[in-house]
Amino acid sequence: MAGFLNNSTALCLLLTISFGLCLVISTLAELQRFEHPVKGDGSLSFLVIGDWGRRGTYNQSEVALQMGRIGEKLDIDFVVSTGDNFYDDGLTGVDDPTFEESFTKIYTSNSLQKQWGDAEAQLNPVLRKIDSRWLCLRSFVVNAEIAEFFFVDTTPFVDMYFTNTKDHAYDWRGVSPQKNYIKDLLKDVELALKESTAKWKIVVGHHAIRSAGHHGDTQELVRQLLPILQANNVDLYVNGHDHCLEHISSIDSPIQFLTSGAGSKAWRGDVKGLNQDRINFFYDGQGFMSVQLAQNVAKIAFYDVFGKVLHRWNVSKQLYSAL
Ligand SMILES: *[C@@H]1O[C@H](CO)[C@@H](O)[C@H](O)[C@H]1NC(C)=O
Ligand SMILES: *[C@@H]1O[C@H](CO)[C@@H](O)[C@H](O)[C@H]1NC(C)=O
Repeated sequence: MAGFLNNSTALCLLLTISFGLCLVISTLAELQRFEHPVKGDGSLSFLVIGDWGRRGTYNQSEVALQMGRIGEKLDIDFVVSTGDNFYDDGLTGVDDPTFEESFTKIYTSNSLQKQWGDAEAQLNPVLRKIDSRWLCLRSFVVNAEIAEFFFVDTTPFVDMYFTNTKDHAYDWRGVSPQKNYIKDLLKDVELALKESTAKWKIVVGHHAIRSAGHHGDTQELVRQLLPILQANNVDLYVNGHDHCLEHISSIDSPIQFLTSGAGSKAWRGDVKGLNQDRINFFYDGQGFMSVQLAQNVAKIAFYDVFGKVLHRWNVSKQLYSAL
């Protein structure tokens, strides 16, 4: 069955309804921009979950419950989804009950009452009527003062998806020719990063740049996207795709690679080594991640299905680094 939507590419952002969203058409870059206010003290916190849509099975409901608990504790501002939202074939259309079964009825905690979206904008208004949390586009920027989020649709980078069309149907409308699309997208991302004055720069994609999990590194991203992120002082690259939790540190730049793709099916059992960079943490089971940002410190934590902290990490930035 062909996925109507290319949901494997969907990069989603959940924003609190109370703050609302404000669409700002940028005059410089092609990427759509959204503004999100921070808390009174200027801090920001959010959860990251990926690869989750299995109608509550494979511990999806357990993870959702703990996200609700931790979300409340950290007073989160929104939730970032790293994609692969509806297994196995995305949504067949706007009437597909999967949307409610895998999203609306699962992430029910108070602290998770946020907005969602989807990479294919044409369905976005209809799905938002079903669940107002939903908001998702292909690639976009969210400015939250202290941090700027650059959502990059990484699927068009992966050559295999253009050559091997047997296993999944991809909707490349508006994307092909691949080469031009990527060239323009990289230009937009680079410009948006260059212009950013945010303290923390966070790039979100579905595919890993570095991973010790099943899929390993995504070579196309290592070659094409990573140099731009490193040249523009990106702090975090956040992704899903591999159904695990991992934290890898670049050895030649400050960038941290964070995989949170353990929203449902996990325990794949095939952990690879890394060719490059340093692995700080790897967990093959289900769970999620939290990020807390303040002016001078970022704190990251990974949790399992019981809400137990598996790994913590923080980095401090000196005041002068903003100058
Ligand atoms: C659910 O989580 C528990 C605890 O990590 C694990 O033992 C179990 O295998 C998981 N179930 C599935 C279907 O992955
Ligand atoms: C960062 O983590 C270390 C331990 O890993 C801890 O000692 C330190 O207090 C933390 N810093 C902040 C600002 O949370």
